Amino acid sequence: MSLGLAIVGCGKMGRLIAQLAPEYGFDVRAKFTRENNLHHAGIVPKSLQGVDAAVEFTTPDSAPDNLRRLVSLGINSVCGTTGWYEHLPAIHESVLAAGTGLVYSPNFSVGVNVFMLAVSHAACFFAKYPEYEAWGWEIHHSAKKDALSGTLKKLEQDIRASGYNRALTLTANRAGAHPGTHEIGFDSAADTITLRHTARSREGFARGALRAARWLAGKQGVFEFREILGELS
Ligand SMILES: NC(=O)c1ccc[n+]([C@@H]2O[C@H](COP(=O)([O-])OP(=O)(O)OC[C@H]3O[C@@H](n4cnc5c(N)ncnc54)[C@H](OP(=O)(O)O)[C@@H]3O)[C@@H](O)[C@H]2O)c1
Repeated sequence: MSLGLAIVGCGKMGRLIAQLAPEYGFDVRAKFTRENNLHHAGIVPKSLQGVDAAVEFTTPDSAPDNLRRLVSLGINSVCGTTGWYEHLPAIHESVLAAGTGLVYSPNFSVGVNVFMLAVSHAACFFAKYPEYEAWGWEIHHSAKKDALSGTLKKLEQDIRASGYNRALTLTANRAGAHPGTHEIGFDSAADTITLRHTARSREGFARGALRAARWLAGKQGVFEFREILGELS
């Protein structure tokens, strides 16, 4: 039986998710745009009839209030919007209090999440070798609003959490239509090690978000996408 899906944010990601949703057993029953969701007021019980889950890809200033609305109406949500994580602790509490579910990630690509695990693993080793210094770099299309990307910030956190505490320079470029490349390197006088993930399109992000929405059905709690990776295949 198909599940009802609400698309919150009908930009590049939202449109692709709506197109791929039937492949994951979803029937798109609501679509929210900036126009029909002015001041987040479109997300009301009437507009969510028959909706079991929502996928939110909007802007950093819209996502927190959209999520608060969805949580208050008992809708399990997947949020791919980046740049709003200072609100995450408060939203985490609301989700738990309401008994709903949320999966969030700055990057819903399975490949990126495996890349992140590889970076953490490498950083853990390089932490012990002071002759190596690290860098991080990303490039995205020129319409992307946040820079550094949420993914590069997450990579930085992971590298630090792995015990690497020396120099780490981070830079971002914005140009053209590039869907996203992230690179982490470690350099010494002897050699250079480069780990790079290149997205070819947005499809990997959209499929990851839909898999997460399907997985979240009937569950409660707050999950980062990488925590559920092993349960999605
Ligand atoms: N996690 C991931 O895997 C992943 C992958 C790709 C992108 N992202 C992130 O996802 C977000 C969206 O990316 P995108 O490429 O789809 O951007 P986009 O093409 O600019 O789409 C964002 C859409 O959200 C709409 N919007 C803004 N406020 C809204 C509101 N309150 N209610 C409903 N819709 C609203 C915008 O409308 P207007 O055009 O009228 O402003 C726009 O259509 C960004 O934060 C991006 O960094 C994450």
